[in-house]
Amino acid sequence: MPKFLSNTPPRGSSLYISTILLSILAVLYLASGFFSATTAPAKPDNMFDYQTVDGYFMQSDPATDPVGPDEKYPVYFDYTKYNFGLIAAEHYPNEGNQIDYKDRTPWQRFTSFLNALPATSPPGTQYRLLYLARHGEGYHNVAEAFYGTKAWDEKWSRLDGNGTSVWSDAHLTAVGEQQARDAGRFLTKQFSSEVKMPLPGEWYVSPLTRCLETANLTWDGFNGSSTKPIIKEMVREVMGEHTCDRRSSRTVIHDTVPEWTIEDGFAEEDELWRADHRETWAEHDVRSRAFLDEVFANEEGSKIVSVTAHSGTIASLLRVTGHRKFPLQTGGMMPIFVKATRND
Ligand SMILES: *[C@@H]1O[C@H](CO)[C@@H](O)[C@H](O)[C@H]1NC(C)=O
Ligand SMILES: *[C@@H]1O[C@H](CO)[C@@H](O)[C@H](O)[C@H]1NC(C)=O
Ligand SMILES: *[C@@H]1O[C@H](CO)[C@@H](O)[C@H](O)[C@H]1NC(C)=O
Repeated sequence: MPKFLSNTPPRGSSLYISTILLSILAVLYLASGFFSATTAPAKPDNMFDYQTVDGYFMQSDPATDPVGPDEKYPVYFDYTKYNFGLIAAEHYPNEGNQIDYKDRTPWQRFTSFLNALPATSPPGTQYRLLYLARHGEGYHNVAEAFYGTKAWDEKWSRLDGNGTSVWSDAHLTAVGEQQARDAGRFLTKQFSSEVKMPLPGEWYVSPLTRCLETANLTWDGFNGSSTKPIIKEMVREVMGEHTCDRRSSRTVIHDTVPEWTIEDGFAEEDELWRADHRETWAEHDVRSRAFLDEVFANEEGSKIVSVTAHSGTIASLLRVTGHRKFPLQTGGMMPIFVKATRND
């Protein structure tokens, strides 16, 4: 025991008072630590909390098998056969009993419901539907399959290529290009007057070449002039170590898609990729929340948002919105219905 505590100092002495003060401070300090750890979670730095709204899409329903029946030979959920996963509801809350909606398509009814939500939501709550797309097959996907994931991660992914194939900032293979065009064909059907799925009003694309190529092929023909993708650093793939996830310079990206917008503050060279550190899930999720915060901060923004990105980016967006795991094949797409609640 420290000496000054063993002998009670004379009343009124400054040592006595400071001992009492110190004890009070210590108790307050311990109590604040206790309460902050157990009752009040640390206030998040993010502008919004995100949540997947369940019950409207098959992809968020535990009864839908994302990959079945054997993970070794995956057969991915075929959203092209299920209207992109939209569950045809018996009744939406915005539909009065009188309204005869039998002539409206399921997508028209869902869209009316989505558009009616702001009128009945508390301030600070927003809903949007995101169309998430994974790029088509790239040369890096072929190389990983060729070498096996272990050898790929340990050796080959760190090289630019193997002499016959190049996979740094990989391009799409012919198969990947076809997957991107097929996605466009599927969307053409969805946006047609028979189905009436709503077109996005905002398009975000990862700066990696395979995503620029995918978005270009998928969205070509949809009134190119109204399709104005914005290239966003925050939706790029897990960063570091693998050369396929190191982006090209801003100049090269601009030359690849001269008509698209590159977000403000986008550095000329890739300053985020590091040869000696692979981004963790926690680090990646910080970027994904920052991306969502930017999208949702504009309350007047479109309720239908397209994102062309990567398996890792999509997995992270699913984590931060509390959606269950839902792997997509290369060129695959999925909707997520997101509720954002402002933190203030
Ligand atoms: C390089 O990798 C590709 C697969 O990405 C493979 O088809 C090719 O045979 C490899 N080349 C050499 C020289 O090993
Ligand atoms: C895709 O690229 C071609 C050639 O550069 C261009 O004409 C077309 O408008 C692009 N498509 C989109 C959707 O930007
Ligand atoms: C293209 O634009 C025209 C006129 O604005 C519109 O009628 C048509 O539905 C659009 N097509 C697609 C696929 O968005």
